[in-house]
Amino acid sequence: MRALVRETRLSPENFIYPLFVVPGEGRRREVPSMPGVYQLSVDEAVQEARLANAEGISGVLLFGLPDNKDDVGSAAFDPEAPVQSAVRALKLEVPDLLVVTDVCLCEYTSHGHCGILIDDEIENDGTVEQLTRAALSHASAGADIVAPSDMMDGRVGRIREALDAGGFVNTAIMSYAAKYCSAFYGPFRDAADSAPAFGDRRSHQMDPANAAEALREVALDLDEGADIVMVKPAVTYLDVIARVKEEFGVPTAAYHVSGEYAMLKAAAARGWIDERRAMLETLTAIRRAGADIIITYYAREAARALA
Ligand code: PBG
Repeated sequence: MRALVRETRLSPENFIYPLFVVPGEGRRREVPSMPGVYQLSVDEAVQEARLANAEGISGVLLFGLPDNKDDVGSAAFDPEAPVQSAVRALKLEVPDLLVVTDVCLCEYTSHGHCGILIDDEIENDGTVEQLTRAALSHASAGADIVAPSDMMDGRVGRIREALDAGGFVNTAIMSYAAKYCSAFYGPFRDAADSAPAFGDRRSHQMDPANAAEALREVALDLDEGADIVMVKPAVTYLDVIARVKEEFGVPTAAYHVSGEYAMLKAAAARGWIDERRAMLETLTAIRRAGADIIITYYAREAARALA
């Protein structure tokens, strides 16, 4: 009876599974602050994606750790870098799986900031040009969706224009539209080696106290051509997810981020919560708030729990 009248359905089809791709072969290294999450070389990422696909998960979201970093993040658009190589391998070997790529510079800059710096401040427009190069290189490798996570102004419009001009009219854009300046990204910065060397991301990521601003950010990205908009993190911003979905009615994603995952893992490891129930309750709550798509490190575990 409960199943018959249930209002919210949770399915692996709602999930996108993030992967961290490193150079080399046969490499699989667990991230200490994210049990069950690994840095993977391309061959290992393909294996992991194959399993995710078999479990019914819709797509993967790729992050890359390059061999070398510089102050303008050039490795972000290197066609031979881990992300671009992984996209090509995945489209060849797991063609049914959607491949989404994170577009940002923080993993590629020597200083760990999301853009080009002038006098220790991010220069918006020059950064947007670098991001556009990265998005184009992901699209030409075969990415189905590019996902700018940088929060620079005007990047969605510029990326859309460049994709269209480059003939990538079918490459979609999932914008990290309402991305908050959050403490819950901590473990990710270990996984992606992307912590800023000085300062923080308050110049471009949103104030956790603001919700009306999130609606303005989403409206701007939609105007510029975003196909899917994202709210991030998820659990501490369920009200924002609900308002975005209600106001715009467009495909809405929520990122259940590294810190949210790590908290559940840590409590479960101490036997303080029932992990399976807490995981499914959390993901259901994100869906109930209005997210169509959930990006989560729990994707495979949840898919297995739901099977
Ligand atoms: C890159 C990026 C971040 C995350 C996704 N893309 C980190 C940040 O903004 O510092 C966080 C994801 C997570 O915590 O799981 N800019």
